[in-house]
Amino acid sequence: PRVRVVAHADFVVGEVDPRLFGGFVEHVGRAVYGGIYDPSHPSASSDGFRGDVLELVRELEMPLMRYPGGNFVSGYNWEDGVGPVEARPPRLELAWKAAEPNLVGTNEFVQWCARAGAAPYLAVNLGTRGAREAQALVEYCNHPSGTRESELRRRHGFDSPHRVKLWCLGNEADGGWQLGAKTAEEYGRVAREAAKMMKATDPTIELVVCGSSGAFMKSFGAWEYEVLTHTLPYVDYVSLHAYYHNEHHDTARYLGRVDDLQRQIRDVIATVDAVSARMKSSKRIHLALDEWNSWWGKPTPKRGAAEPSEEWTVGRPLLQEEYAMEDALFVGGVLITMLNHADRVRIGCLAQVVNAIAPIRTRDGGKAWRQTTFWPFALTSKYGRGTVLQLGVTDGAGCRYGCGEAPPHPSLVCAALLSPEGTELRVFALNRHLREALDLEVSFSGCVDPDGKGARLRRSESSAEGSAAGVEQAGGREAFEQCGVGRGGTCIPNHMRRVAHERG
Ligand code: AHR
Repeated sequence: PRVRVVAHADFVVGEVDPRLFGGFVEHVGRAVYGGIYDPSHPSASSDGFRGDVLELVRELEMPLMRYPGGNFVSGYNWEDGVGPVEARPPRLELAWKAAEPNLVGTNEFVQWCARAGAAPYLAVNLGTRGAREAQALVEYCNHPSGTRESELRRRHGFDSPHRVKLWCLGNEADGGWQLGAKTAEEYGRVAREAAKMMKATDPTIELVVCGSSGAFMKSFGAWEYEVLTHTLPYVDYVSLHAYYHNEHHDTARYLGRVDDLQRQIRDVIATVDAVSARMKSSKRIHLALDEWNSWWGKPTPKRGAAEPSEEWTVGRPLLQEEYAMEDALFVGGVLITMLNHADRVRIGCLAQVVNAIAPIRTRDGGKAWRQTTFWPFALTSKYGRGTVLQLGVTDGAGCRYGCGEAPPHPSLVCAALLSPEGTELRVFALNRHLREALDLEVSFSGCVDPDGKGARLRRSESSAEGSAAGVEQAGGREAFEQCGVGRGGTCIPNHMRRVAHERG
């Protein structure tokens, strides 16, 4: 079967915000202790961070890193994690039933981010704490000097402010599992007051308010509506969280869940825009998909229900997913879907980065390695920057596949963008059909080749047609093998260099 995809340089979805390719490091399992931080590891620097892990994180080109949770943040006292390490109190960590030694806190994380090439994206605790403590953390991090919190930071060895730009107002506040869970009204009011005080402290910051914990929640939709009704003037983004797994042991159906994310994104956009309309505001709230991944989640959903003997220890293995090829395909499909909503989805955080539901795994004292999901993320993060184009897709019945009880889904998931320099058209494509190869024909117009050397594309009013056929299964497999994933599959993490060459 053949699918025809038509794009024109003037029909644009939006510019990709590089923060779409962010990550997430939570104090959970071995993500921090035994993950990014392990002073006893041969590759560790003097501040205890593993050098081999940092190298792999850099390969993912994540410009943003969310921290410190997640569920963890809803019981966290940020003051416990700053200042002289020997004076920091060990605590019972209630969200994951662990011991928290507070060896890594805000300052260490900000330093780690600088080395990872990421901007920190900090969450404040609006579960067991409130607006005052949230404001104090902004003052500690961002106020230059001369006040209680800013002077505390300076005494802790950080003369210049951290200038943390992006903050998130708590975590999954509608989840029954969340410490200090709230109704939409309770959360909306505390989030609004925290937002007011945080922005009064530093008007340059941007804020993400909590959307519902997921589309599966009863509160989904109504939650976003009510929370935004309280917070619209003070916040910039609403969060979405989306985790999926192959619960039916049916790969085709699992890959079909990429379309559920598309629906969730559209539903949230509709809801937040309805609040703007209702409040007669021209403000557009953008979306932060600040937790997403494939997560099998055993034990689930009462995550953290570990062996009783291991509870209350530091860095016990939790959420250590082992990913297969199908998970890499799924992750590629999610990234394509995010690109296709680049106009409204501005922030994304792969949850998480190391050991816990992560593309990177480590062995204590041993190696760090890339899981299958590392590859589609690294490739899309590298090449998925620029201007996303609208696509017209023509596919026949042969280009659909059965997907559980749902009507047949299109086999192709596809996005196309012009690179930031305007030199390349890049196509990302996933064939979800497990048996049929798919011929992909891309017909692209609206660019000229100004010097006639095929070296540069430029938008133009007179169109120059180009097409590329034959991005098919074997080609995709080959591309994937070159990236080191190994055994074959149907994912085509293809970028459009190839097409640009054929045109050139
Ligand atoms: O990422 C793991 C957990 O999933 C996070 O702590 C929480 O926010 C979500 O339920």
